[in-house]
Amino acid sequence: MIPKHITIIMDGNGRWAKKIGKERLFGHQAGAESVRSCCEYAVEHGIEYLSLFAFSEENWGRPSDEVSGLMSLMIKSIIEEQPVFMKNNIRFRAIGDMSRVPEDVVSHIRECEKATGSNTGLTLIVFLSYSGKWDILQAVNRFVEENAGKFPEMKMDADTMNRYLSTYGIPEPDLLIRTSGEMRISNYMLWQCAYTEFYFTDVLWPDFRKENLAEAISVFSKRERRYGKTGDQIKCGISGSN
Ligand code: IPE
Ligand code: IPE
Ligand code: MG
Repeated sequence: MIPKHITIIMDGNGRWAKKIGKERLFGHQAGAESVRSCCEYAVEHGIEYLSLFAFSEENWGRPSDEVSGLMSLMIKSIIEEQPVFMKNNIRFRAIGDMSRVPEDVVSHIRECEKATGSNTGLTLIVFLSYSGKWDILQAVNRFVEENAGKFPEMKMDADTMNRYLSTYGIPEPDLLIRTSGEMRISNYMLWQCAYTEFYFTDVLWPDFRKENLAEAISVFSKRERRYGKTGDQIKCGISGSN
């Protein structure tokens, strides 16, 4: 089965650059080509959602020249890719705590979201200044604010949580890929990945291309997703996901 939503933790840019004696930023720049390649693959194969973890809440703690280099790269990529998004019918979205992101980056993001908003092909989501704990906390805080006076009868439940998360409307990832050999999710979509299939590869992000994505999808397609049921139940066609 082809995954509806593929998400990628794009890791290993710094190590890739170091290996060839270059600055970390050079690795981040090279990673842009991998993004292009994966988007092309997703468009060619009718993937509905491709999401990319580009910059975490914790990444704000990196040296300031790396952070500002990454922000400039974000603007450059949006400017360069917007015509490609239009040509390929890609809808662009960015998710994360934008209150921490420089204004010029946010305005380019909003502009691109607006320009590509009626495209109907691949939805490309960039997670920027994002963390899974941030997402859950902002959801709970908004829920409390909007329902003041209705407690304790009002309860949070899974459907309500889904509505308040920043990913509302986006299906939960079927497949999460992490490059560079690290086997952790580094505070990524904690709630949304409850039943996501994980695929880890040693390939560093700037080396990741269509064939690597194809391999990840091929491995995914052989997995049996059981959602707590037994293998026999799944084979009988009892729906796994609730
Ligand atoms: C991923 O590559 C990009 C970001 C986290 C912004 P890294 O910059 O983490 O590269 P390594 O892990 O140091 O090699
Ligand atoms: C995770 O990579 C975040 C992104 C890829 C954006 P990190 O390089 O920040 O993760 P850790 O620190 O190795 O867990
Ligand atoms: Mg890293």
